[in-house]
Amino acid sequence: MSMRDDIAKVLASEDDIRARIKELGARITEDYKDKEPVFVGVLKGCFLFMADLVRACDVRCTVDFMVVSSYGAGTISSGAVEIVKDLSHDIAGRDVIIVEDILDSGNTLSYLKRYMNAREPASIRIVTLLDKPDRRTADVEADYIGFTIPDAFVVGYGLDYDQRYRNLPYIGVLKPEVYS
Ligand code: PRP
Repeated sequence: MSMRDDIAKVLASEDDIRARIKELGARITEDYKDKEPVFVGVLKGCFLFMADLVRACDVRCTVDFMVVSSYGAGTISSGAVEIVKDLSHDIAGRDVIIVEDILDSGNTLSYLKRYMNAREPASIRIVTLLDKPDRRTADVEADYIGFTIPDAFVVGYGLDYDQRYRNLPYIGVLKPEVYS
């Protein structure tokens, strides 16, 4: 059976994603035309979005990555954020654009925003491919949002369930029988 058979519904197709990233890229290109931002991808979920987003942004920039972990193997955020891999370069004085695949409870991004603010960047903005506002418990919002989605368990285009489905080229809702 293909991994695609585990998907109940497509939330954002490959074409939807491509078109939306083009729009986000145009906005970021305009907003940062006189700057040289550093895109900080939050791995692992961001890896495909980051790759496509930076190519849609016609700006001088650098890239960096952090690896953080908040979920373990379950589907509910534990609240704790662990830094598995820190920034490789100093962000003091830089215009930081944090790149996430999904903003859910907001725990990860509120922690990362505080963490990076302490390193005195010139500015911090957040771009997230997916926003799930119904689940928000932390006080954090994204500056650029790809798609606002309902509270469903989504996988694909970088997002996993138990580390799988990240290579699915679109965003889909996982069939409940797969994780229950
Ligand atoms: C996911 C996602 C965000 C976070 C969002 O990461 O990439 O970092 O959860 O959830 P929150 O808003 O409730 O904090 P995850 O810990 O699953 O790791 P991954 O990126 O390796 O998939």
